[in-house]
Amino acid sequence: MSVIVVQGYYPLKGEVEIQGSKNAVLPMMAAAILHKGTTVLKHVPMIQDVFCMMGILESMGCVCRFCDHTLTVDAGELTCTGVSKERGRAMRSSIIVLGALLGRCGEADVYYPGGCSIGSRPIDLHLAALRQMGAVIREEGEALRACTRGLKGTDITLSYPSVGATENVILAAVRASGITVLRGAAREPEIDALCRMLSSMGVRIGGIGTSVLKIQGTKDLADAEYQVPGDRIVAGTYLSAVIAAGGEALLRNASPGQLACVLNIMREMGARIAVSGDAVRISMDGRPRAVSIETSPYPGFPTDLQSMALVLLSVGRGKGYLKETVFEGRFATAKELHKMGAEIIIEGTEACVTGKGFLKGAGVRACDLRGGAALAVAGLAAEGETRITDCGHIVRGYEDICGDLQHLGGIIRREL
Ligand code: EPZ
Repeated sequence: MSVIVVQGYYPLKGEVEIQGSKNAVLPMMAAAILHKGTTVLKHVPMIQDVFCMMGILESMGCVCRFCDHTLTVDAGELTCTGVSKERGRAMRSSIIVLGALLGRCGEADVYYPGGCSIGSRPIDLHLAALRQMGAVIREEGEALRACTRGLKGTDITLSYPSVGATENVILAAVRASGITVLRGAAREPEIDALCRMLSSMGVRIGGIGTSVLKIQGTKDLADAEYQVPGDRIVAGTYLSAVIAAGGEALLRNASPGQLACVLNIMREMGARIAVSGDAVRISMDGRPRAVSIETSPYPGFPTDLQSMALVLLSVGRGKGYLKETVFEGRFATAKELHKMGAEIIIEGTEACVTGKGFLKGAGVRACDLRGGAALAVAGLAAEGETRITDCGHIVRGYEDICGDLQHLGGIIRREL
C-alpha cells in the first residue's frame, strides 16, 4: 500500500487549478442511464470513484470513453440491470443508480452501498421515497431487488435533506409518469449541477436551488454535453493547507460561490481572502485564531471539511470548538492527529480543541477520504516528517493531491 510523505513547517506559495467535483460527477454519470443516447461530461476528475462508476455503467451495457477529462457515455442499449456486490460495496454512490435503473428499465438489483465509514449511513430515506413512487423493493441481506410496473410522479417529503436520497428521487422522477414534487430536498451545489445537467437533456425541473423541487417526467431526452463544476471540497482542502502552513496561493476553478460559509470562517481565523470570478486568492501569516464551528447541510459549514477544521484548530492558538451534526462517526481522524501532538477532546459529536500553535510530524493512518486529506494538510504545518499510510482512501476523491500541493510549494510525495 502506498504512503504519502510530507515535510512540514514551510510556508506555501503557488497556484493550482481545482479538479472537477467528485460529488457532482457521480450522480451525473448515473443520470446518463436515463437516456437512450449519448451524454458528454467535461472536466471530469480522474479519480477512483469515477472509474468505479464507469465500471458499473459498462457492466450494464453502456459504452464509456474517458479521455483528457472528458467522459462520453453511450447508454443506447442496456443489457443488464444489476450492480455487482463488489462494485456496489466500493462506494456510496452506487446506490443512486437505483432510481435511474427503475426509471429506465423498471427493475434493478443493487447492494447496500459502501463508502467512507463515517457513521451508520442508512438508506431508509432512499427506499421509502422510491416505494412511494411505485417501486417494490425487497431487501435480501445486503442485496436489494427492486422492480416497478412504472414509477409515478408523487408528492414526497424527506424528513432529512439527504443528498443521496434527493439524487435518487430526482433520477427516478425523470422517467416517472406525471410530476414529482420533492420537499425537504438537499440544497448542496451538487444537486443544482445535476438538475441543470438534466435540464440540458430536456427535463423540466422547477425550484432548482431550493428545497422544493418539481420534476416533470418525460420519455424524450436529448444528447447533452455538460461541464462538471470545480470541486468545492478539494478547494476547501487546499485553502486549509495555506491557513495551516502559512503563505499565499491562487486557486482557479474553486467554485467560491459554493464556499461562502467556509470562507467566512477562514477569514475569522485570520486568513486574507479575495474572490475574483471562479478564483480565490488566499494569504495567511501566523497561526489561525480559534473559532467555533458547527457542520450542517448546505449552505452551512460542510461536514466534508470537518477534519480539515480539526487540523486548523489544532495548529491554531486557544480553545476551539467543533460540533458535527451530519455524520455521527466522523471523528476518527482526531486520534491520528493526537499522534502529531494535537489536543482534541471528543464528547459525542462535539470536539474541544486546545490549539498549541504547532504539530509534530508522525506516522499516521488515513481512516477515510477527507480525513486522509486532512492529515496531508496537518503534515504541511507540522515540524518534521509525516508519513500517511492507507492513503488509498485519498485517491478515491483527489486526482493528484501530492501534485496539487507541490504546485502550492508543499514538500509532499507519494512512495509506492
Ligand atoms: C453525500 O453523502 C456525499 N457523498 C458526502 O461526501 C457528504 O458528506 C454528504 O453527502 C453530506 O453532504 C457523495 O455525494 C458521493 P446524506 P450521502 O445522505 O448522500 C443520514 C465525501 O467525502 N441518512 O446527505 O451519503 C446519513 O446517515 C463524502 O465526498 C439517513 O439517515 O449523505 C447522514 O447522517 C463523504 N437515511 C445524513 O443523513 C438515508 O436514507 C447525511 O447523509 C440517507 C441519509
